[in-house]
Amino acid sequence: MTAQLIDGNALARKVRDEVAGRTQALKARGIQPSLAILLVGDDPASKVYTSHKAKDSTETGLKATLESYPADLPEDRLLARIRELNADASVHGILVQLPLPKHMDASKVIETISPAKDVDGFHVASAGALVTGQPGFWPCTPYGCMKMLESIGYDLRGKHAVVIGRSNIVGKPMALMLLQKNATVTICHSATRDLKAMTLQADVVVAAVGKRNVLTADMVKPGAVVIDVGMNRNDAGKLCGDVDFDGVREVAGWITPVPGGVGPMTRAMLLVNTLEAAERAAA
Ligand code: GUN
Repeated sequence: MTAQLIDGNALARKVRDEVAGRTQALKARGIQPSLAILLVGDDPASKVYTSHKAKDSTETGLKATLESYPADLPEDRLLARIRELNADASVHGILVQLPLPKHMDASKVIETISPAKDVDGFHVASAGALVTGQPGFWPCTPYGCMKMLESIGYDLRGKHAVVIGRSNIVGKPMALMLLQKNATVTICHSATRDLKAMTLQADVVVAAVGKRNVLTADMVKPGAVVIDVGMNRNDAGKLCGDVDFDGVREVAGWITPVPGGVGPMTRAMLLVNTLEAAERAAA
């Protein structure tokens, strides 16, 4: 059996088209959905990520402003700028690119963003809303994974989902989203004793560790859905995920590729959250 591919590029295009349509509707009411992206320092990867976010936004009809600051920007200056943006009704989403320079307290910076504009879904209020099932912003990567499951018509009720990884921005929120859809959820991590025993029971596996070959074919139940959140490089420098794709695709029922899987969906969900922020502000 060879798994069917869940095409993140194609699904992201569909999501972006939907966002573009809803953005036009808001614009017709005189509202321009707008995202402020704050970049501190000159980390090359962060520069690329933020320019992608700005480009994705403008191509979809959202307004994006990318503000770049030097690495030695005092923390209180950044906090003051965030407070200004919080108070600016023409700005609907605020994103501070991580990592921040070492002299800054990332938690303090994120908690300064108004939860109503927290389109990354990183604020403790956003995390709390997800835990309690209240409206809030969901972190883009796990939100994108949920969209991928939805796109194949997968009913999570009563299914066993195993999430490998417990980060605040992927593993933990992923588990809560799966739980909200009535899956039975297991979170595995570096101290898990027998990962293979867990994954072999899983109807859905989400691998979000950041290490190659965390999931191999012998660890997967035939027909399972495998979502690969990893972004690594192999020995040849080629982009790869956490899953041994070539092996696992012979056992799984569905699988997401890397590249072209979760990555484009993460980017698309930021647009969804920004549009949502604008729609909520206009409601
Ligand atoms: N750095 C790497 N990924 C992200 C992300 O999704 N949001 C922010 N703010 N910073 C990041």
